Amino acid sequence: MSTPDVRSFSVGPVQENCHIVRADAQATRAVIVDPGDEPERLLEAAEALGVEIEAILLTHCHFDHIGAVAPLARASAAPVYCPKIEVPLLTDVMRFVPPGFGPFENYEPEHQLSGGERVNLAGMDIEVLYTPGHSPGHLTYAIGGALLSGDVLFQGSVGRVDLPGGDWATLEDSIEQLVRRFPGETVVYPGHMGVTTLERELATNPFLTEIRTRLAAEQPVAASAPPRGASS
Ligand SMILES: [Fe+2]
Repeated sequence: MSTPDVRSFSVGPVQENCHIVRADAQATRAVIVDPGDEPERLLEAAEALGVEIEAILLTHCHFDHIGAVAPLARASAAPVYCPKIEVPLLTDVMRFVPPGFGPFENYEPEHQLSGGERVNLAGMDIEVLYTPGHSPGHLTYAIGGALLSGDVLFQGSVGRVDLPGGDWATLEDSIEQLVRRFPGETVVYPGHMGVTTLERELATNPFLTEIRTRLAAEQPVAASAPPRGASS
């Protein structure tokens, strides 16, 4: 599948990136990833694009990624796909929201994902990858040549690991799996800050230094030309 059409919107006080994703710029069905806040703005954006929201996908359940889930699900009737072990955060949102944010509504997701699944939504084949480290149930959605990767990898940075369930070695391993698995030109649509690519981050991101070193050590020494087979 080719790279999908992705429209990104920074929403809420934490400027979280919500993404409307469709197979191409003419498609009339879309999924929405991490609707963190400003549900009216996101619904207006979907309407302006002429798309029906077929599903709501969550990378993880920190409050800044889920604040608009309930109103969007109600308005669109779209089912919500949530990381399984983070469902308790979505069903009791305000318990985990710092003072001064919200209020946000609870939501019981229709589907739970653990990573390793493939789902077909809005005409797109979506691979669900388990990428913990920033949060314990964090998922990344691979759609064609794009990764919707939440708070795993940012332009020049990575997701924080000091929140409950965070762990740097685990996050580094998740990033390394993505870098090994997908081509360098794969476009990364992160949960905060700008769009980037795997190769750009591998070349320049200071948090990927050890991954870069490991991959470089695996590069084979230039091989000599193989012997030519005897012609008949
Ligand atoms: Fe987060």
